[in-house]
Amino acid sequence: MTDLTINPPRGGFHAEVTVPGDKSLSHRALILAAMAKGESRVSGLGPGADVVATGELLGALGVDVGGAIVASSGVEAWTKADEPLDCGNSGTTLRLMAGALAGRPFTSTLTGDESLRARPMRRLVAPLTALGATVALSEGDTAPLEVGAHKPLVGADVALDLASAQVRTAFALAALQAEGPSTIESPAGYRDHTERWLEATGLGTRLDGTAFRIDPGPVPPTDYEIPGDPSSAAYLWAAAAISRGSEVTTPGIVLNPGRIGFLQILEMFGAVIEASVTGSILGDAVGTVTVRGHGLFAAEVSGPLAVAALDELPLVAVLGALGEGITVVRDAQELRAKESDRIESTVNMIRALGGGAESTEDGFAVVGTGWLEPGTVASAGDHRIAMAAAVAATGATGPITIEDAGVAAVSWPGFYEQLEATWSSQ
Ligand code: S3P
Repeated sequence: MTDLTINPPRGGFHAEVTVPGDKSLSHRALILAAMAKGESRVSGLGPGADVVATGELLGALGVDVGGAIVASSGVEAWTKADEPLDCGNSGTTLRLMAGALAGRPFTSTLTGDESLRARPMRRLVAPLTALGATVALSEGDTAPLEVGAHKPLVGADVALDLASAQVRTAFALAALQAEGPSTIESPAGYRDHTERWLEATGLGTRLDGTAFRIDPGPVPPTDYEIPGDPSSAAYLWAAAAISRGSEVTTPGIVLNPGRIGFLQILEMFGAVIEASVTGSILGDAVGTVTVRGHGLFAAEVSGPLAVAALDELPLVAVLGALGEGITVVRDAQELRAKESDRIESTVNMIRALGGGAESTEDGFAVVGTGWLEPGTVASAGDHRIAMAAAVAATGATGPITIEDAGVAAVSWPGFYEQLEATWSSQ
C-alpha cells in the first residue's frame, strides 16, 4: 500500500502516446474467444490486473489462454472449477462471466476482493433468470454469487431500467447459449461493443432504439486486435486540456460512442479536439485523437452523456476545479456502485486539494477556482481516483501525494511513469 508523490510539470508539453489496449474490449475478446471452438488470436490485450483476472478465470474453466492465442473446445466443453472463481477487483470480469456461466449445466461461484464483494449484483438476477438460469446472491445482494443452468436456457425479452453495458453483455453471453432468440433493451448511453461485435459475427441484430436481438449459435473463432483504451487516454487528454498550449495525440483508440462522452465534455471546457477514424474492429471505429489545451471553463453533464463518460467523471471534477465557473454532474448515480463510492471519493479528492466540491445524490458540483493546492488524496482503493489525482498535479501549485497509488495497476500498470514522460515531452 505505497503512497506516491507527484510533482507538477515544469511547463507545457507536446506528446504522442500509444495507450494500452482497451479494458472493456480485452474482457470481451477473451470471453468470446473462450466460448468459440478453435483458436482465436488476441493481440494488444490491456495489461491491467482486471484483464489478467478474466484470463485466469477462463483458464480455471479449462480454456487454454496463453500468449496471444486462446484455444478452446467451445463453451460446451467448459468444466466446473474446483474453487470459487476469483475476479479480484474486476466488476466487468464478475458480471460478464456470470452471464457466460449462466448457460452452463453446473453451478459456479464467482467472488472477488473486498471492494468487489461490496458492489451491487442484484441487477444480474432478473435478466439471467428470465432465460431460465439460477442465480443466488450473498446477503446484501452481493458476491460471492452462484450461477448456473439446471435446465436448458430459453430465449427471453428483457427491458432493464439501468444503462449498464456489463448487464447487457452478461445477458447476451447467456442468451447466446439459449434455445431461441432473445432481446434486450435499456436506457441509452451504454458502451455497445458487445452488440457491435455480435452483429459483425452474425449472432445479433440491432433493432429500434436500444433494443438488440441475440440469435443463439456457436461463436466463431476470431482474430481480435485490441485498440487503445479511451478511458486510459482520458488521463492524458485531461492533462493536455489543463495545460494551455500543450497537446497530446493518441493513435489507435476505440471510438465507440459510449466511450467518448469525455471528448464532448473536454470541448465544453474549451479544449480543442481533433479526431479522425483510421480503422475499425468488428464494427467499432478506431482512430487518432489530439487534445490541445486552450484555457478551461466549466461543463454541465447529465443524461446519456453522463453514462458515456461515466468512468471519466472524476477527471471532470479535476477539470472543473481548475476551470472557471461551476461544473455540475447529474444522472450519475451509478458512480456510487463503482470500485469506491465514486461520488464521495471524487468530492473528497477535490477537497483534499483545497478545492470546493459538494456531492448530490446522483453527482456532484465543483467550483472552478482555477487552481488546486498541494495535498494528500486517499485513492479509496479506486484506480480512477488515484489516476485523476495524479492528473490534478498538472494544474496544482505543488506536489500531490496519492495514498495506495499502486491501485492504478488494475487498469494501467506504469501509468504514473507515462504521465510524467508525457509532461516532459516537447
Ligand atoms: C464496462 C461498463 C461500465 C463501465 C465499466 C466497464 C464494460 O459499467 O463503468 O468500467 O466493460 O462493460 P456499467 O455496465 O456498470 O455501466
